[in-house]
Amino acid sequence: MKGIDWEQFTALRGSEKKEYFMRGGQLFHVIMPQQFDRDFLDRMCQLATKIRGISKGNKGVLFLQSLLQGKRAMLYFVQPSTRTFLSFMAACQILGFQCSEVRDTSTSSEMKGERPEDSVRTFSSYVDLIVMRHPKSGFAERIALMLNNIGRPVPVINAGSGKDQHPTQALLDIYTLHRSFENYGGIDGKKIAFVGDVKRGRTVRSLAYLLRNYDNMTLYFVAPEALRLEDDLRTYLREQDVTFEESDNLHEVVPLVDAVYMTRIQDEYDQAEESGQIDYSRYHLRKEYLSLLRPNAVIMHPLPRRNEIPVAIDEDKRAVYWRQVRNGMWARVALIAAIFGKDQTILDY
Ligand code: CP
Repeated sequence: MKGIDWEQFTALRGSEKKEYFMRGGQLFHVIMPQQFDRDFLDRMCQLATKIRGISKGNKGVLFLQSLLQGKRAMLYFVQPSTRTFLSFMAACQILGFQCSEVRDTSTSSEMKGERPEDSVRTFSSYVDLIVMRHPKSGFAERIALMLNNIGRPVPVINAGSGKDQHPTQALLDIYTLHRSFENYGGIDGKKIAFVGDVKRGRTVRSLAYLLRNYDNMTLYFVAPEALRLEDDLRTYLREQDVTFEESDNLHEVVPLVDAVYMTRIQDEYDQAEESGQIDYSRYHLRKEYLSLLRPNAVIMHPLPRRNEIPVAIDEDKRAVYWRQVRNGMWARVALIAAIFGKDQTILDY
């Protein structure tokens, strides 16, 4: 990212940052959903489906493993994760990478006072790809900026950064919506309800950003007063002409939509245990709501869940959150393949 400093960079709009995440006209860093357009999303869905198919046979498995054999990836996850960490590791392995990991800074030289930026720069000396989850908002952008300016730049994928973004979760959510509505007119024109902590849920933010790429969408944000949408996302949706409504009544919204995207309360970001003051049970999907939900609607959740969706709902054919988990692996294989220029080779297989 030569020729731009951090202050200038942070002043840019998301879409204006896109060029700084490319290299040689090709996708390099994956930092925020604003860098993706409709063509890219359609291609990722097509590629993920192709990879799923290829993976069904031994010959295909070996073909995929041969594509990036000898490459190394660092998984730097210093905020808790089950699905994102494991699916990235599986995705890397599917493409032939070997993986290293740091999941706890108490085992790294950050304990001796090393700056996280220096830790990541160190990783870049050993590996070809860095996948990173960090509690600080904006940290992934800062790292992309730094890596662009060193002698051996490697791509970085943001696997969740504070409250702000989780772009690869959004990508797998798009892939899940794509598969769910493949025979029902696609994603365009659908009505989607985001339920719960829409203020601090980075998966909600990232998916809402991606959905502006689809036509005639209607988004509902169903949240308690204290956890309503942040102003920046509200402004973005207005600028992008995305129709949206805000509500605090889940019961009223359930019958109106094609997808219900549930979220847990993000109380790890509390300042003074304020989540304890909120009656979150009003934002649980009760079993009796299933009779109100459209027959072809889907129930989504990025997981982990607490009590927002009772386990009894897992058996309902509209519950697709366990499919999201597996789709995450395919979507991440597709993304890594695209970063390393192997997407067309896979599509031609
Ligand atoms: N959806 C998601 O990011 O899950 P993990 O926190 O388990 O990675």
